[in-house]
Amino acid sequence: MSNASKKVAIVTGGSRGIGAAIAERLAADGFAVVINYAGSAAEAEALAGKIVRAGGRAVAAQADVSDAAAVAQMFETAERAFGGVDVLVNNAGVMRLAALADADDAGFDSQVAINLKGTFNTLREAARRLRSGGRIVNLSSSQAGILSPTYGIYAATKAAVEALTHVLAKELRGRNITVNAVAPGPTATRLFLDGKSKELVDHLAKLAPLERLGQPEDIAAAVAFLASADGGWINGQVLRANGGII
Ligand SMILES: NC(=O)c1ccc[n+]([C@@H]2O[C@H](COP(=O)([O-])OP(=O)(O)OC[C@H]3O[C@@H](n4cnc5c(N)ncnc54)[C@H](OP(=O)(O)O)[C@@H]3O)[C@@H](O)[C@H]2O)c1
Repeated sequence: MSNASKKVAIVTGGSRGIGAAIAERLAADGFAVVINYAGSAAEAEALAGKIVRAGGRAVAAQADVSDAAAVAQMFETAERAFGGVDVLVNNAGVMRLAALADADDAGFDSQVAINLKGTFNTLREAARRLRSGGRIVNLSSSQAGILSPTYGIYAATKAAVEALTHVLAKELRGRNITVNAVAPGPTATRLFLDGKSKELVDHLAKLAPLERLGQPEDIAAAVAFLASADGGWINGQVLRANGGII
């Protein structure tokens, strides 16, 4: 049995992509996992079933992270199912690319609602509820540093997530809870691949010195380290997991 065998992790946006890889990895490391999703019930339930069949503990929990009441209910679901919460991974996120001159209000509002307010909603609950020894890992983006054209609103939401990370790490003084962010570079998921030509994907894949796209499992490994006993002295940091692109 691993150190994590009695610990409980909530992974937001766990139905596919990076969040699904994080949920699977934390379950393999011994955490009971709550796989949050907004609309993709079938995928989240299928992943929970796969983890349980492999001997792990998992439940799927619907909640739109931009809805504060739904987020509070999700924490209550986790506490009812597994007795408490030790780890929060704030992974749910959306990206809508547009030059500022062309960006519409709906794209601005959805990215702010999900990436920023969603992170605030879950951090507030976690700050009130996480047990001693807990870990919070927020998903930022290396775009908060690269700052490419068309990424302005998305990068701004992720810069805000990094600010919340640093502030909450200080506010949780005395609670024995770490708060960090992982900032992936281009990673092979729907969020990154949708709407891009093969030529553009190939070009972006070559930008990092390691000359490939990140895989969801690469990001899950970084999150798992921060959630583990070995990551316990890392606090208030942003870890860019990106093959060296910045
Ligand atoms: N892929 C990249 O290149 C990359 C790079 C840097 C950072 N990131 C960050 O990594 C995180 C995961 O991205 P990804 O690439 O894995 O994206 P993805 O494949 O599009 O998956 C996004 C996940 O978030 C969930 N989600 C979306 N809106 C939600 C909401 N309102 N409430 C709860 N869940 C919601 C989706 O579930 P439903 O279908 O149920 O809505 C899905 O499970 C995001 O924060 C993203 O910004 C990704």
